[in-house]
Amino acid sequence: MANQYNSDVLIIGAGAAGLSLALQLAPIAKISLVAKDALTEGSSLYAQGGIAAVLNDDQDSFESHIDDTLNAGAGLCRRETVAFVIKHAPEAIRWLVDQGVSFSCELESGGSPSYHLTQEGGHSHRRVIHAADATGRAIEQTLETQVKRHKNIHIFEDHIAVDLITRSGSDSDNETRCFGAYILDKRSGHVNLFQARFVILATGGASKVYLYTSNPDTSTGDGIAMAWRAGCRVANMEFVQFHPTCLYHPKAKSFLISEAVRGEGGKLSLPSGVPFMQKHDNRVELAPRDIVARAIDYEMKKHGLDHVNLDISHKSSEFITSHFPTIYRRCLELGYDMTRGPIPVVPAAHYTCGGIVTSLQARTDIQGLYAVGECAFTGLHGANRLASNSLLECIVFAHAAAKDISEKLNEKVVPVPPLPLWDESRVTDPDEQVVVSHNWDELRRFMWDYVGIVRTTKRLMRARHRIELLKDEIREYYSNFKITNDLVELRNLVLVAELIIRSALSRKESRGLHYTRDYPNLDTQHPPIDTILAPGDLTENATPRVITG
Ligand code: FAD
Ligand code: SIN
Repeated sequence: MANQYNSDVLIIGAGAAGLSLALQLAPIAKISLVAKDALTEGSSLYAQGGIAAVLNDDQDSFESHIDDTLNAGAGLCRRETVAFVIKHAPEAIRWLVDQGVSFSCELESGGSPSYHLTQEGGHSHRRVIHAADATGRAIEQTLETQVKRHKNIHIFEDHIAVDLITRSGSDSDNETRCFGAYILDKRSGHVNLFQARFVILATGGASKVYLYTSNPDTSTGDGIAMAWRAGCRVANMEFVQFHPTCLYHPKAKSFLISEAVRGEGGKLSLPSGVPFMQKHDNRVELAPRDIVARAIDYEMKKHGLDHVNLDISHKSSEFITSHFPTIYRRCLELGYDMTRGPIPVVPAAHYTCGGIVTSLQARTDIQGLYAVGECAFTGLHGANRLASNSLLECIVFAHAAAKDISEKLNEKVVPVPPLPLWDESRVTDPDEQVVVSHNWDELRRFMWDYVGIVRTTKRLMRARHRIELLKDEIREYYSNFKITNDLVELRNLVLVAELIIRSALSRKESRGLHYTRDYPNLDTQHPPIDTILAPGDLTENATPRVITG
């Protein structure tokens, strides 16, 4: 039997973005907090390196962090957003500390403790605050404890949002407004109606669209797909960040080797021991990620390798095990002692720089609908995200959204139109699951092969053709059978894949994370532009509309 739940605020996602927002609003609003798996399962939980913030004014400055972010973003960052996020970073860290997050400290020469700041690629200073190599776990566990204490936060685990509920013309300004979402309770199999005055998408990224990824299974782009279907614009989906170093081992599904390992002196080499980064960039191992990932991809293809090596064993065992306890333990379980020798690594899809177009208040194109965290496009990352700027973006924009919503909570309530319950009268139980599992595998493989680190127009066209076939099959399956978690995710993955491919095809240059052999250089003839797609653009055979961001 389907249920209806009403609250002031519906937050879909419980990563760093969703949990922070829930805690900010809980004193003044009744909240439904929904996660499609266990509450804290998501990319935030696995974040290793840390959070970038200027905390040491003597040696570092906001201007320097801003410059590093703009440089990594290769001409596409929105300066206003960059300054907004970076200037709010110290306050975001203070908020996390007040919640109880315990960051790693070191003893200064005078004997007083201060936060240890690590180094990552593209940063010109040590400015990444962290909790050893498990920063995300420290954040998620602390915030989870806090949200579970709050009587205003009603938690729904194992609930996957299927679609947003919007209506046009119900407002005085005649705009489309969001009134809630249909959400599948994975345990009962019922699709319930969640009605709320404010709905926030905090659903994370879409890296599961690729065969090899550092991300957990939750990163299927659901929020981006739901927002798109509801009528929101999305931007810059071609900029998929590949992390240079994931552990290469058949049993090591999605295990990241933090960039901080290179930041603290780790060196890359071919399996023969020959170093190669000096051939690709004079910043060697600390060049921005796109450059390091492309260099590894190039060397692997050139030498027919299935991995390269990363070695930090020249540092003391004590240093390695205290800075990287999680990575050390996991590698040891799989037979690699990083205190004694190199570990095998490969690049993998890591971060979705594009997403739902949002304002500095985290508002989307739809009234009452917000997007925060990796699913949002704020303009912070441009064509390539600077390491450890993502958790920061989650916290800063969660605060910005909370501020905006708290101001609107006192405004006159918009009357809620009749919202129908989910209708399953015309669908039956799926006859066979193989359609879903086959298409899931096929999609992720061709995205890896055709829309990966190095692209060509021909490969992108091939991928687009395959997407059309998959879309038809999935559309038919979706209209005939009861939905399951896997079907909801596959439907979203195919749509997000299409957005990535169309965006990539429309960019006739190589910039940041988007590298195509057909246009290997920056377009210096025109000012840099964002790729902004609006739902009406993806009619059959239409080419995406590209407008200045
Ligand atoms: P997530 O943390 O991914 O959370 C998404 C939430 O949405 C989950 O609760 C999920 O269940 C829920 N959800 C998704 N779809 C639905 C749906 N349909 N219905 C209901 N719920 C749904 N960034 C840094 O800044 N520093 C780092 O050191 C760092 N290290 C990283 C290491 C790894 C291994 C990975 C994968 C990423 C790392 N990143 C790092 C990136 C960063 O962790 C993520 O960008 C960030 O955590 C995203 O947070 P989020 O809250 O937006 O989403
Ligand atoms: C890492 O620790 O290498 C991940 C940092 C990030 O993705 O920002």
